[in-house]
Amino acid sequence: MQPVPQLEDLPDPMGKRVLLRADFNVPVSAGVIDDDLRIRAALPTIEWLTERGAHVTACTHLGRPKGTPDPRYSLDPVRARLAELAPGVELMENLRFDAGETANDPAFVERLVYGQDMYVNDAFGAAHRCHASVVGPPMRLPSAGGRLLAKEVEIVIRLVTEPARPFVAVLGGSKVSDKLGVIKALLDQVDSLVIGGGMCFSFLAAMGHGTGKSLLEPDQIDVCRQLLESGKRILLPNDIVALGPGGQIGRPDAGGEVATVGQDVADGWMGLDVGPDSAAAFAAEIRAAGTVFWNGPMGVFEDERFAAGTRVVAEAVADAGGFTVVGGGDSASALTRFGLADRVDHVSTGGGASLELLEQGDLPGLAALRESAANAGVRS
Ligand code: 3PG
Ligand code: MG
Repeated sequence: MQPVPQLEDLPDPMGKRVLLRADFNVPVSAGVIDDDLRIRAALPTIEWLTERGAHVTACTHLGRPKGTPDPRYSLDPVRARLAELAPGVELMENLRFDAGETANDPAFVERLVYGQDMYVNDAFGAAHRCHASVVGPPMRLPSAGGRLLAKEVEIVIRLVTEPARPFVAVLGGSKVSDKLGVIKALLDQVDSLVIGGGMCFSFLAAMGHGTGKSLLEPDQIDVCRQLLESGKRILLPNDIVALGPGGQIGRPDAGGEVATVGQDVADGWMGLDVGPDSAAAFAAEIRAAGTVFWNGPMGVFEDERFAAGTRVVAEAVADAGGFTVVGGGDSASALTRFGLADRVDHVSTGGGASLELLEQGDLPGLAALRESAANAGVRS
């Protein structure tokens, strides 16, 4: 992959106005930020710019409002936190309050860049989106990638180009269909692929197992079968923690039996976590790895009855002597919940973006920065 222009490649920022695309899409509940990692992660870039006399205006999306102002996605909590961490940095309104953002509307791009002298993209988590604020400004302003974006890209490149062996990828989460592309890409690169979470049931179904009421994507079963027949090392759970009839996720008080079963989940039962034997086998694979990439929880860890599989995997990743990278909001918040976030080598601020970069080898936001540099002569 070709490099993207860095902060040092920009014109002297002294006294200039810099538009900073950040990814401050942080989890907010009842107006309170649950985890400000994404704001703190942008500070090295902000400091680099402000120390050199730039006037920084930041912009970000928050959540998925539908192109119109929506108080549920107010940036007020983010603005308050940013003012504490980086006083003097302005913050525009939530980009997705305008339909022009996701539509990549040129008129919206014009409004974003109005009065700005240069553009910095530090929003790695949004660099896979072909949205106005990601791909538009580089066509109009001298542009560079920020420090966070550069670091995130460097980590993914390290994973694909020189992983210490064995390279173990651990994928969880609910949908195979979301991750099919990355599963195929990873199978060519890794020494083993560990699969847990809701998506394991489409694989177990492909092996002929019953899945009861567990998550299942029937239209993915054939693809899962082909992947299993690829001859690659794919580890699936050999036991499952399941919830019996009448039980409810997140409601232990509602009753319903919880049992560890084998690879077959009976009718009326729902598999919600990998079982203890599987978790131990996955942990052993992780501990022996030279490189670990983990994306997606092993079960519904928000419900303590189905948290053990994710916890055992998280602890193994934290203990691993190898180079460990965790991507994806859910696996990152699992790490935080278990108090392990500072024990992995890298927690990515962009789950979707890191998967897409692994799969495609590039992202629209990176390509736009490169194109900006190539067009510098034309623009000036
Ligand atoms: C994320 O949280 O993954 C990024 O901020 C991108 O958000 P999006 O998936 O709504 O585009
Ligand atoms: Mg380590």
